[in-house]
Amino acid sequence: MTSPSFTIIGSSKIMRETLAKAERVARTSLPVMVTGETGTGKELFARFLHDHSPWAERPYVAINCAAIPSELLESELFGHKKGAFSGAQADRDGLFVQADGGTLFLDEIGDMPLPLQAKILRVLQEGEVRPLGDNRVRKVNVRIVAATHRDLNELVAQGKFREDLMFRLRGYALHLPPLRERERDVISLARAILRSYPEFAGKQMSRDLQELLLAYSWPGNVRELRNVILAAAVDASRTMEAQHLLPHLSGTDAPSTVAPVRPLKERLWSVLQQVGEVTLAHLHNLMRIPKPTLHYHIKNMIQQGKLRRLTDGGGVRFVPANDDAEQPTPEPSTAAVQVVEKAVRITCQQVASTVGIPIRTAGRVLAMLVNQGIMAPDGVGFRPCRC
Ligand SMILES: Nc1ncnc2c1ncn2[C@@H]1O[C@H](COP(=O)(O)OP(=O)(O)OP(=O)(O)O)[C@@H](O)[C@H]1O
Ligand SMILES: [Mg+2]
Repeated sequence: MTSPSFTIIGSSKIMRETLAKAERVARTSLPVMVTGETGTGKELFARFLHDHSPWAERPYVAINCAAIPSELLESELFGHKKGAFSGAQADRDGLFVQADGGTLFLDEIGDMPLPLQAKILRVLQEGEVRPLGDNRVRKVNVRIVAATHRDLNELVAQGKFREDLMFRLRGYALHLPPLRERERDVISLARAILRSYPEFAGKQMSRDLQELLLAYSWPGNVRELRNVILAAAVDASRTMEAQHLLPHLSGTDAPSTVAPVRPLKERLWSVLQQVGEVTLAHLHNLMRIPKPTLHYHIKNMIQQGKLRRLTDGGGVRFVPANDDAEQPTPEPSTAAVQVVEKAVRITCQQVASTVGIPIRTAGRVLAMLVNQGIMAPDGVGFRPCRC
């Protein structure tokens, strides 16, 4: 399966501003430094800058400085003469020459070895390159776009990056915001990602899935969103629910870890058993898991009779059912009747979330109480009958 390429999606204010900046600077010949966390779209924006530049018809050449061994990087960038080193069997143009008249994208510039940084600086200052083993120079006219997810100022402070090169490359700084700061884009991105795969045509996203997408912190940004939404689409038959997505999330705010992560459900259960009685806020602080995700699992555990919800003063707390064995867990509808009877006014949604039962069950309980003349609808919710 090939990965379709995307146009840049984003209607959040911060993304519209970023796109407007990118369009403005694309028309100039200034070097652009694109920064942002992993997966925020740096590569996508580098291509955008080229496509919106006056030299869009000229070459666009990209190189990932972190992916090429430093001994090869020099000849890759500057080219070489035949015989310049063992294995140099013919003259070869470097990427600066290949990109002449167009754009050269230096990705992961923070990983560029120091000796090469000096050579790149010279090309930027003089506008000419000297291939390895050649004593002649060639004039080049290239627009440089560089990107990094690392903090270049910090690398400069550590002596790992040349300050003069940093300033030279940062003719214009374009920072891409993380996905968690552009909530508004999450759902439209997820939809666009799904739409771009014909095999997932017709898959719908349920409301609880959309809530989860909005609640999660996306440490891997759009790349992570893309991976998990596609994985969830594989697991879902037609409607994609939160349960299809949860197993594919890392579950913590930390970037992907090397050690295998225990399934979230298991970790939550073992924490619940260790702490006994706990509030949602306390669990959230303990585990750093978004509250909607916790709520979703807690609701399931309550429905399975594994967890009890305590509301007797002191706020809503949860306790593993086995910690409280003497008190049998009431049937959801019995509990719902008790909650409704005590209420001054209550909605279907409130019954469902208080008791931890599906809205449909709560609706059935309320309908039964209305039929029995115990409750009456008042247009907003239900009130006890005064008649
Ligand atoms: N705004 C966006 N609209 C559509 N797709 C996007 C957007 N931002 C990122 N993507 C997609 O997310 C994925 C990651 O983007 P990209 O490779 O450009 O990120 P990056 O910032 O270069 O990440 P890294 O630092 O890990 O190299 C790609 O598949 C890209 O097409
Ligand atoms: Mg990248």
